[in-house]
Amino acid sequence: MGKIVELKNVSAGYTGEVILRDVNLVVNDHDFIGIIGPNGGGKTTLLRVVLGLIRPYKGSVTFFNGQESSHGNIIGYLPQINRIDTRFPISVTDVVLSGLMSKEGILGRYSGKQKKLALEMLEKMGVHNLRDKTVGKLSGGQLQRVYLCRAIISSPRLLMLDEPSTFVDTKFETDFYEILKELNDDMAIIVVSHDVGTITWYVKTIACVNRDLHYHPHSTITQEQLAAYNCPIQIITHGDVPHTVLKTHNH
Ligand SMILES: Nc1ncnc2c1ncn2[C@@H]1O[C@H](COP(=O)(O)OP(=O)(O)OP(=O)(O)O)[C@@H](O)[C@H]1O
Ligand SMILES: [Mg+2]
Repeated sequence: MGKIVELKNVSAGYTGEVILRDVNLVVNDHDFIGIIGPNGGGKTTLLRVVLGLIRPYKGSVTFFNGQESSHGNIIGYLPQINRIDTRFPISVTDVVLSGLMSKEGILGRYSGKQKKLALEMLEKMGVHNLRDKTVGKLSGGQLQRVYLCRAIISSPRLLMLDEPSTFVDTKFETDFYEILKELNDDMAIIVVSHDVGTITWYVKTIACVNRDLHYHPHSTITQEQLAAYNCPIQIITHGDVPHTVLKTHNH
């Protein structure tokens, strides 16, 4: 087990505006981090910083694989769905295969073995019947499953998911988190979600992002910790497991 990526004192944003302030975060193998926070708090921006799509104004992002960036197959990424342009006339299978692009180079030249793998992924997500459709014709939830296949097909060391369950139905949401739990044996996972109740059931640790990042090294937060972290209150109960108390931050 080792460090995958470390953010040190990172400040980042757009066109000079600071969105993330002095963020510190280490992601280790087998981590399962839930990221929560209000709309516009900077969660997607944080993922973009890790992906290298945004260069921080200050601070550093270091990968511990002998490389200086996230290139290669270190990271699998499921973008927030409303940011994907679905007008692109590409089939479901090709979208999944495009997750192998950085490994294999040219789109379209995939081996039979890779195509079989793509179909296996689609089957696992229950959408293999859609394999020849163009992505523009899919529903939001179907699209999310297809993009999840793309994010994991290269067996990344770190899987980052930006609100993966926005469009999926309750039945698949449970299956989906069970799939993530299984994947977590092989890869670290960062998942952004507004569904705090569901993610705290599965994640190992929590980061609250609202310009600052507050890292909670457990999935259960006590009243005492809340006071120490200065979080406002939201109480989540999980039936017969100990309940989790979380808040958004106070600024
Ligand atoms: N490409 C961009 N150019 C300029 N400002 C941006 C850009 N993307 C996001 N922002 C701004 O940065 C802030 C943080 O946005 P971000 O998308 O990181 O929030 P978020 O926490 O992911 O929110 P949500 O929960 O709504 O997804 C917002 O104020 C947003 O307007
Ligand atoms: Mg976002």
